[in-house]
Amino acid sequence: MREYFPIIVVGATLGLISIAMLVAYVIVKSKVKAQAFERTVSDKEIIKRLARYAKPYYPSFIAVLMLTLVSIAYQILSPYLVGYVEEMIKDEFVLGDLFKMVILYFGMLLVSVLSSYFQAVILQKTGQKIISDIREETFAHIESLSHEQLNGIPVGKLVTRVSNDAESVSRVFTNVAANLVKNVFIVVGVLAAMLVLNYELTLIILCFVPFIILFTLLFRHFSRMAYRREKEKTSDINAFLSENLSGMKVIQSFNADGDKYDEFYDKTRQHGKAVLGTIFVFGIFRPIVYVLYTFAVLVLFYFGAKGYLDGASLFGQAITGGVIVSFYMYIERFFDPIQSLAEQFNVLQSAFASAEKIFTIMDMEPTVRDREDAIELDEIKGDVEFKNVWFRYDEDGDWILKDVSFKINAGETAAFVGSTGSGKTTILSLICHNYDVQKGQVLIDGHDVRDIKTSSLRKRLGQMPQDVFLFTGTVRSNLTLGDDIPDEEIMNVCREVNADKLVTSLKDGLDEKVLVGSENFSAGERQLLSFARMSLRHPDVIILDEATSNIDTETEQLIKASIDKMMKKGTALVVAHRLSTIKNSDKIFVLSHGEIIERGNHAELIAKKGRYCELYTLQTRKELLA
Ligand SMILES: Nc1ncnc2c1ncn2[C@@H]1O[C@H](COP(=O)(O)OP(=O)(O)O)[C@@H](O)[C@H]1O
Ligand SMILES: [Mg+2]
Repeated sequence: MREYFPIIVVGATLGLISIAMLVAYVIVKSKVKAQAFERTVSDKEIIKRLARYAKPYYPSFIAVLMLTLVSIAYQILSPYLVGYVEEMIKDEFVLGDLFKMVILYFGMLLVSVLSSYFQAVILQKTGQKIISDIREETFAHIESLSHEQLNGIPVGKLVTRVSNDAESVSRVFTNVAANLVKNVFIVVGVLAAMLVLNYELTLIILCFVPFIILFTLLFRHFSRMAYRREKEKTSDINAFLSENLSGMKVIQSFNADGDKYDEFYDKTRQHGKAVLGTIFVFGIFRPIVYVLYTFAVLVLFYFGAKGYLDGASLFGQAITGGVIVSFYMYIERFFDPIQSLAEQFNVLQSAFASAEKIFTIMDMEPTVRDREDAIELDEIKGDVEFKNVWFRYDEDGDWILKDVSFKINAGETAAFVGSTGSGKTTILSLICHNYDVQKGQVLIDGHDVRDIKTSSLRKRLGQMPQDVFLFTGTVRSNLTLGDDIPDEEIMNVCREVNADKLVTSLKDGLDEKVLVGSENFSAGERQLLSFARMSLRHPDVIILDEATSNIDTETEQLIKASIDKMMKKGTALVVAHRLSTIKNSDKIFVLSHGEIIERGNHAELIAKKGRYCELYTLQTRKELLA
């Protein structure tokens, strides 16, 4: 009985550890609510869709597999070789034989190292290509979405999809899949080699497998909990940062830095704690696997040595010193992959979550889409008509436009006036088919905008939005938007729209840098640049939403003169806040709460003594006073 004492000690220790961990499993309840993002698509479905990204690279993956098999061969053959050498040097041996073995071992090692290297290189290259593919596809898809859909997704989210999530997904291929294949092969290979060498010792070692499985499952449970907490805290920090960095100037001007700092301090501390939690879980798991490994080695030595001394192991199978040495090496190779498989699990889960988030974007059908039989317009004459248009941004929101009808003939200029929120910008947006109307029709040259290819419509309409967006880059790149246009033509157009003085006054002219948020240009200057940007495309109809923000008198005069010139050139639809700008329009529509309450030209509307007259008198009096 005494000879089994060591085995009993090992068994009892393992049993105690198992019980302790199971108790922890029962006691420690997950305090983390399920993440904001719940997975709804099955793993199988995701793998199926992901396989599509791998498809173009199958040859690379096959090459990787081959190289992996070569490097695994070393893992499985080398212990055998070492065992063989151990046997060899026991009897009288020839030094030359030993050299041969050393060279053989070195050769195997070299081949293995080289194949590992090439495997890693091919895998990383392929991984980068897959990231690019996913990113390009996601970006192209986002470009195809309608304004309505884009309004619904915060920009920060889109950024994360294209950057982090794409990377996380590619890890499925470069990291998880590759390791999975490798580790499974190693476990199977090592097991087979051990069975061939000595099935009795192998069976004894296999007694540890149930413990390995138990500990791995528990680890998976705890690590998932810890990861979730960590992720939750990370997204807390991200959300806080993206909001507060954008609003930093407000924070500073209201002297709220202290409070915000405390809030942030709290969040980073919590995140730190969560990370420590994850490290703790790993800190428990890894030593436990090590304990298992050590026990397995002890048991091997115990039974191996005993068998060696007795001349045969428990059931009479012969044991040599070489077998024990080989087994000693195999046990390590058996435990390593198992630990790494368990640790990969979380990477896989987070990659799948990322994949699902990307797929959610990919699955958004663009709502404003060309019909199959949509027509291409080479030219737009400029008849614009609204027929009983009803429109709202939200399904269940208030109507923003209520039964709006009007007709503008080619060549005419029309102006929309009305207080903020009355629906002026919305009307312009609908003409450009940025949104679909719910009731009624928007007609351009007699065609419903829904029947016209959006690309041809947008090419022929020159839109100048209320808030001009300038990209970081140069003035030139903002005007040409990537088209190849000679400077001479750019300057001609700038002259037409009164932006030439602005450009020439810049230190670097067209090469002047535009900073992030275009803060080195005033609202008025931005508007002038937007006129030039639009005019460079020589549109048939111009659509202008005048900026409301404060503009200095000088720039205002420039803008006014510029609008005047543009309005003379052809069909123009203008929203103007300074009524003097649009005095000469052929048609003026006065909007209030989404309805046209007055229409006519300037003289008619003044004669009517209605809302327009009221607004006009108010403005002229103000101007006189100023
Ligand atoms: N993208 C949008 N989503 C939801 N509501 C919007 C959106 N854009 C504008 N609105 C609402 O539609 C109404 C009209 O807005 P808008 O056409 O911009 O007015 P205006 O240009 O006359 O100031 C406002 O009440 C505004 O809040
Ligand atoms: Mg507006």
